[in-house]
Amino acid sequence: MPEGPPSSVPDQTRPPDIATERALERSLKELSDLKYALDQSAIVATTDVHGLITYANDKFCQISKYSREELLGQDHRIINSAYHPKEFIRDLWRTIASGRVWRSEIRNRAKDGSIYWVDTTIVPFMDARGKPYQYIAIRYDITERKAAEERLREQAAFVRLGQMAAVVAHEVKNPLAGLRGALQVIGKRLPAGSPDTAIVGEMVARIDALNRMVQDLLLFARPRQPKMAPVRIAMVVREAVEFIANDPGLKHTPIGVDDGGDPVISADVDLLRPVFLNLLLNAAQAAQNRGGVRVRIHPRQNGVCRITIEDDGPGIAAEIRDRIFQPFFTTKHRGTGLGLPIAKRAVELHGGELLIESPEGGGTTVTVRLPLEERLRARSL
Ligand SMILES: Nc1ncnc2c1ncn2[C@@H]1O[C@H](COP(=O)(O)OP(=O)(O)OP(=O)(O)O)[C@@H](O)[C@H]1O
Ligand SMILES: [Mg+2]
Repeated sequence: MPEGPPSSVPDQTRPPDIATERALERSLKELSDLKYALDQSAIVATTDVHGLITYANDKFCQISKYSREELLGQDHRIINSAYHPKEFIRDLWRTIASGRVWRSEIRNRAKDGSIYWVDTTIVPFMDARGKPYQYIAIRYDITERKAAEERLREQAAFVRLGQMAAVVAHEVKNPLAGLRGALQVIGKRLPAGSPDTAIVGEMVARIDALNRMVQDLLLFARPRQPKMAPVRIAMVVREAVEFIANDPGLKHTPIGVDDGGDPVISADVDLLRPVFLNLLLNAAQAAQNRGGVRVRIHPRQNGVCRITIEDDGPGIAAEIRDRIFQPFFTTKHRGTGLGLPIAKRAVELHGGELLIESPEGGGTTVTVRLPLEERLRARSL
């Protein structure tokens, strides 16, 4: 009698299609279990060879804030934050189109404009001819880690800037004061009506501008720990409004103030003055010849005082939104680009936060949130 078939050979007594069906069923179950596990842990999307999204899991919808309908059929440009250079994206496509796995960290923009970072692995699926027919992207949210890295880098930069500022203070401010004094003496000696008086006046004004810039740099690079005392925030706002009302270029821009019942908060008034001055200057400069500015101190809520500054300016273009807090970033002819970084830093030293919203239609709203009570953020200076 011939030996029976080895156990690995399908049971001949059952029709082969049922056995295959069972195996297929098992594989499908395994596959769907694996997919379930993947969907639980990662942000998953598949695309066709042209990069059009064919599948997006719930986590993808959650993080990108787009609905599944909005994502399907789109390519990943929908979440592109215009951060990575073209070469980076080209390398991604070269790699996956040639059938290799690509891995890197990507910065994306959600529907509401917020930024998130994802650790991304893209795996090409190949057909029988060795050509990719689909790509699967598996991503993990690393936004918090990126923010922590950024804070560390920022702190290291602050230390270097602080050292530089100390040198600047000594080497630049003192000679500037000397020059200014000497020019004033020369100015006084000039005969009345001399055409040189205007030139000397212009030189003094230039020195004053240079001095203000050095002062701003010092304030930014070497802020001190806030000395807290009760402050009427509406008073600080009104001081800034008054300053702007004296500026010949800005005095025609109306600024309305709603003092919200004049709350008192615990703050360092000397640090807060430049915050509101810089924010109101930006708002008035933006709204100039286009409309006005509205400042609102909101009623206290959950231990926080919220102040909003809303302007009718053109708004902030999406391409520069990520850079406006960088020191020396400016789009203005005579700007230094220190206004916002100084304001942000001072607010954060108070344990508060500064947020900027600029919707598509134009206009900008800056929100300052300050704790009502002393609640300083432990931050190394
Ligand atoms: N309310 C606003 N509306 C439109 N753009 C704004 C507004 N506030 C800030 N910006 C943009 O952010 C940039 C940086 O602002 P920031 O206050 O730091 O510097 P700056 O105003 O250019 O110079 P300065 O040092 O004189 O303040 C501005 O140049 C401008 O492009
Ligand atoms: Mg400014």
